[in-house]
Amino acid sequence: MISVSVPGRVNLIGDHTDYTGGLVLPMPLDQYTTITGTTTDEPMWHLRSADEDLPVTIALPVIDPSVVEPRWGRYVAGVLSELHLLGQRVSGFRGTVTTTLPIGAGLSSSAALEIAVARIALGDTSHNLSETDLALLCQRAEHRASGVPCGIMDQLCIASGKPGSATLIDCHALSVTHIVIPKDLEVIVQFISQRTLLGSEYADRVADCHEIEKLIGPLRLATENDLGQINNPRLHRRARHVVSENQRVRDFAQAIIAKDYGSAGEFMQQSHWSLAKDYETSNEIMDQAVQQLLTDPTVLGARITGGGFGGCIVGLRRRKNS
Ligand code: GLA
Repeated sequence: MISVSVPGRVNLIGDHTDYTGGLVLPMPLDQYTTITGTTTDEPMWHLRSADEDLPVTIALPVIDPSVVEPRWGRYVAGVLSELHLLGQRVSGFRGTVTTTLPIGAGLSSSAALEIAVARIALGDTSHNLSETDLALLCQRAEHRASGVPCGIMDQLCIASGKPGSATLIDCHALSVTHIVIPKDLEVIVQFISQRTLLGSEYADRVADCHEIEKLIGPLRLATENDLGQINNPRLHRRARHVVSENQRVRDFAQAIIAKDYGSAGEFMQQSHWSLAKDYETSNEIMDQAVQQLLTDPTVLGARITGGGFGGCIVGLRRRKNS
């Protein structure tokens, strides 16, 4: 019997910066997706999920994951297909998926499933693939399976994260720096509403960033001075979010290291309102949830987290008795 458990992630700060090679600071959660089962001799993957009505049966090798039914099987098929393209031999498998992560809540349940499938399929040869290559493979799988042009944040945080630390990721260099979250801080995650990035405006935001980059070059290198060259008001606001958010990730990480928690909380606030007003990936319910959390005097800052359009909020609190 083989069993692999992979965490979800929550993003502390740095949203909608990864797909332009910017900075992000997510951390792995202590909620996991687990696949348990046995390898088989027939070239098939049979998986049941405790959270889905229908099981998936996938014949190897997988050529087109985007047509697999039921839909949750596309993430599994996407990974198996990418492994096939790499020339990796994959055995058959029969098993079960369980998760303690809420699904479709913006905590990367799909990335956790992808990484878990890859680790099961690679088995003893897992060490042949670096954490970065594993994350890139699962990102390609997600693109092909779901059609959502996501960045690398979720997969790389999950592949390289350590419990109790956030991962400061430079999404251009694909470098990861682990930032220990001090014991006197508590990260709060609140689920507010279900969401899916498929059919959301996520892809529109990615397209806006491509437009901006045609005007001013790579957003990851842009500064406030470059914003003056963008006349379209919508693109101007989008660029202002990305440029300021990259800076906030740097500043937030420094503030955590320096234990300047008041400033860290303020950067989270600024991030929320930048996403709400300039990037328009929040909504009234999420804004109210953030404001509600802030009525607790021990909460230092709170913001919408992840892709947006619903999902979860994240807050930072000074731990009681510290
Ligand atoms: C989703 C995507 C990530 C990232 C966030 C927004 O979680 O999967 O790549 O773009 O949205 O920061």
